[in-house]
Amino acid sequence: MFNHIFVNGKLLIESKAGIPVRDRGFLYGDGLFETLRSYKGFVFMLDSHLERLFHSLKILKYNLPFDKEYIKEALKKTINKNNLAGKDAYIKIIITRGIHSGELHFSRKYEPSLIIITDILNTYPERDYTEGINIASSSIRRSSIGNPLYSHKLLNYFENIFAKDEAHYNRAQEAIFLTKDHLVLEGASSNIFYVKGNTVYTPPLTQNILPGITREVVIDICNENRIKVRQKKIHYRDIINADEAFKTSSIAGIVPVKKIDRFALAGEIPGGITARLMESYISKVELSNLH
Ligand code: PDD
Repeated sequence: MFNHIFVNGKLLIESKAGIPVRDRGFLYGDGLFETLRSYKGFVFMLDSHLERLFHSLKILKYNLPFDKEYIKEALKKTINKNNLAGKDAYIKIIITRGIHSGELHFSRKYEPSLIIITDILNTYPERDYTEGINIASSSIRRSSIGNPLYSHKLLNYFENIFAKDEAHYNRAQEAIFLTKDHLVLEGASSNIFYVKGNTVYTPPLTQNILPGITREVVIDICNENRIKVRQKKIHYRDIINADEAFKTSSIAGIVPVKKIDRFALAGEIPGGITARLMESYISKVELSNLH
């Protein structure tokens, strides 16, 4: 069966799907995306993803010829067309500003493109969850203040894929961005947490990081289960001396970390609190599936 892609109102066979080469998404990475996951056909945290997307669209001055309901309908049609109803799927929603008109600023009445890609989910190896993953510091140092663009899921993702490639070269499954003062910000495609004693820590949203949907779910789970959670600046030495560490993202969920650069974490993998959070996360997914 051919995969179909939703492009501006039409479901096209993948080989025929495309956008004009003069689209600013292609020319400048001038667009936004959301990566989501469905569990047995149910798209987890869909409203939160759309909320984040529409917030970014507004702040970054994209015209909005469609609303959230339109995207939900389009997503449903794409999932059904690709026979993914009832299955675990990878979903990517992309919005570009539209065809470039000459000036680089945003003020023209651009007509955005909406593209939706769905595919059968390639899950991560089970041992990532049972044995943990390695993460490696990127050579790119980011600032922890003064760049609000990091709070949006911009199509221009080069910094992230460059860091992923560095990590891959260093036999790590994820990269982390640090500041020049060795504060930990986030992963190349995830948010980062650590556990010390009975408290869970993660950097605050004021530090130029993506407001991850899974990050928010994990904070909620901590609060619901009376697990202490604190959003505070994290130093590299905090995380290498942590009892437990994990990363979060919509596709992978909660993934325990076993090693940061050359520093192996001392405790069991996954650690006690990480294991509890992983279990509660799965329950939350299952529960939301029933509604
Ligand atoms: N990545 N930080 C960055 C830089 C990310 O790209 C992502 C998501 C996250 C986690 O956000 P969320 O929990 O909303 O998925 C944090 C997506 C999954 C991707 O790799 O496409």
